[in-house]
Amino acid sequence: MPDFDPQVLLDRAREARERAYAPYSRYRVGAALLGRSGRIYTGCNVENAVYPLCTCAERTAVVKAVSEGEREFVALAVVTENGGTPCGACRQTLREFAEDLIILIGDAQGHWRQTTLSQLLPESFSAADLGVLSTEYGARSRE
Ligand code: THU
Repeated sequence: MPDFDPQVLLDRAREARERAYAPYSRYRVGAALLGRSGRIYTGCNVENAVYPLCTCAERTAVVKAVSEGEREFVALAVVTENGGTPCGACRQTLREFAEDLIILIGDAQGHWRQTTLSQLLPESFSAADLGVLSTEYGARSRE
């Protein structure tokens, strides 16, 4: 696992939060996802006048990473005003690409704490439950 500086990842999430498009909730969220390659993919929440179409910051980051060819991840930082944790949909989206993941949760004052995806989403459902080896799929789909 690549070593990483939690503060660097939190700073990238804090910067991404400044780009949040959240005119409806006014709850700005920034995320930074560290891939095994060492690259960091950032994301912010992107809301829509049709409320269910709002995209969370964490899912923005995952979709950016996977679409750039990265599928293995080491850590995620998420920063909100008050240290809110990733929603259930984002936890499950992250689970698709990481059995476990370090998760750093920060607030606007600079406080943060560390947890893991398996703590936030215990007994999760994954490709293995469908009899699919996602690593094999990854290899095949790149052929
Ligand atoms: N939000 C995120 O970006 N990530 C989460 O994990 C929780 C919620 C966003 C969605 C919406 O734009 C706003 O926060 C309020 O729910």
